[in-house]
Amino acid sequence: MTHPKKAKRAGQVSTKGGTGKSTGSTNLGAFIADAGLRTLLIDLDPVQPSASSYYPLEYTAPGGIFELLSYNETGRDKIISRTSIKNLDVIISNDANNQLNNLILQAPDGRLRLANLMSAFDADYDLILFDTQGARSAMLEMVVLASDIILSPLPRTCWPRANSAVGPST
Ligand SMILES: Nc1ncnc2c1ncn2[C@@H]1O[C@H](COP(=O)(O)OP(=O)(O)O)[C@@H](O)[C@H]1O
Ligand SMILES: [Mg+2]
Repeated sequence: MTHPKKAKRAGQVSTKGGTGKSTGSTNLGAFIADAGLRTLLIDLDPVQPSASSYYPLEYTAPGGIFELLSYNETGRDKIISRTSIKNLDVIISNDANNQLNNLILQAPDGRLRLANLMSAFDADYDLILFDTQGARSAMLEMVVLASDIILSPLPRTCWPRANSAVGPST
C-alpha cells in the first residue's frame, strides 16, 4: 500500500537572537533547492523578518504568515512568493504588529495550527523550513510541534571551551 508523500519539516529554533537561524535556514534552503528538492521557507519571525528578503522575489504574493495563521489561508498565489532561486519559495513574515503570538496563545488550536496546515503543501514540496524569532514564545512552541527535525545553531562563544586558550578538542 502506498502512502501519500509528506514534505519533511525542519525548524530553526533558539531562545536567543543572533545565533545564525536566518542565515542557516536561508542558505540551507537555497542549497537544498539547488540540489533539486522543492523547498518552502516559512519566515515566522515577526520582529526581524530577514529570511523574507534574503533572496530577490520573482513573484510577491499579497499575503504571508499573517493570512496563513490567522485565516488558515493556504492558497498558492495568495501566500507563497517565489524567489529567484529555482525550487525555492517563501512565505514572508508580514505580522508587522506582532499579533500572531497572542492569537496562537489564545486560540484553542493555537500551538497545533501550523502542524495542521502543513499537509496543504505536501504535494508541492519536499522540504519545508521554518525560520523563527530567537525568543521563548508560543510561536516557537508551535514550530517545534510542526517540525520533524529541529535545528538549533550555537554561536562559537556558547561552546564550553570556546574561550579557553586550547579551544575545542578535535
Ligand atoms: N556561520 C556564521 N559565521 C559568521 N557569522 C554569521 C554566521 N551565521 C550568521 N552570522 C552573522 O550573525 C548575525 C546574526 O545572524 P542571523 O542569521 O540573523 O541570526 P538569527 O536569525 O538567529 O537572529 C548576522 O550578521 C549574520 O551575518
Ligand atoms: Mg533571524
